[in-house]
Amino acid sequence: MRALVTGGAGFIGSNLVDLLLDRGDEVVVLDDLSSGKEANLAGALERGAVLHRADIRDADAVNAVVAEAEPEVVFHLAAQIDVRVSVDRPAYDARTNVEGSVNVLEAARVAGARRFVFSSTGGAIYGETEEVPTPETHVAQPMAGYGTSKLCAEQYLGLYERLHGLSTVALRFGNVYGPRQDPHGEAGVIAIFCGKLATGGRPKVFGDGTQTRDYIYVGDLVEAIAAAGDADATGAINIGTEQETTILELIDALRAAGDVKEGEFEPEFAEARLGEIQRSCLKVSHAREVLGWEPKVDVREGVARTLASVPAPSA
Ligand SMILES: NC(=O)c1ccc[n+]([C@@H]2O[C@H](COP(=O)([O-])OP(=O)(O)OC[C@H]3O[C@@H](n4cnc5c(N)ncnc54)[C@H](O)[C@@H]3O)[C@@H](O)[C@H]2O)c1
Repeated sequence: MRALVTGGAGFIGSNLVDLLLDRGDEVVVLDDLSSGKEANLAGALERGAVLHRADIRDADAVNAVVAEAEPEVVFHLAAQIDVRVSVDRPAYDARTNVEGSVNVLEAARVAGARRFVFSSTGGAIYGETEEVPTPETHVAQPMAGYGTSKLCAEQYLGLYERLHGLSTVALRFGNVYGPRQDPHGEAGVIAIFCGKLATGGRPKVFGDGTQTRDYIYVGDLVEAIAAAGDADATGAINIGTEQETTILELIDALRAAGDVKEGEFEPEFAEARLGEIQRSCLKVSHAREVLGWEPKVDVREGVARTLASVPAPSA
């Protein structure tokens, strides 16, 4: 199969590119390298993947890359991913996550792609919910521009189905973690904590540490994304583990994985952050049913694998 992966130089995208190459697909990556790194694709480029540097906000550039690639399946992962940036600069967020996504959808349609797979978000779209684990049918009440722009892009997917017959699906991810996640970014608490542990720091906990998230290991996630490219299910599909983990449990898992001595890597507590939700966990029975997919790596195992992938700090 010929696949185009936008955002393919990023954390999740580069893990997806590796999986697609492993199963024999031809892969073209479109990325502006704003947060992604060519180094994430080092092995992939050696194995025949092609990287085009382009910005999804630039419709002409996107059209040119997609027309040349002629993909069967477009995996759209390029995005503005920082929730706080989306609160401070909502129009900037919308330009990338709404207009950029429409540019990629339109280019996919014009190039005759069969399938469009969009990386959406669970936690940021549902907000604080009454039903946990939360099913796809739950009302959406985003608390930031990021969840709103992702939801809006999902609406465009539906439009392209109805208007043009393009087969589309929106995968709503839980909190993704694993090798290659940026330890300096805002996105991943596990990456940040692994970085702290490797450099002798302490984990900073906002609030009392009882807030829960649904942490999904990137290896499991990219299997779901690839399966969604092959399937014909449409609409929104949650991709998580259906397991809630508190921040304090995460720290315990890291202490165990890092063989931490008594008294070290103790949490440093700070005031709870405004607007942060207390519980987030995704119901995944729909993914099991329509993708035949199942998460395999539990959080203790995934945290251990992630920690093992962190390079030792340079002296
Ligand atoms: N990491 C998570 O927990 C999580 C959760 C839910 C959804 N997602 C979604 O998954 C996708 C990938 O996220 P990630 O965690 O790998 O982040 P990432 O920052 O590592 O990857 C995003 C990639 O998109 C590229 N990009 C950004 N803006 C671009 C633009 N204007 N034009 C072209 N390329 C651009 C970046 O250079 C980067 O390579 C995003 O759509 C994100 O919203 C991630």
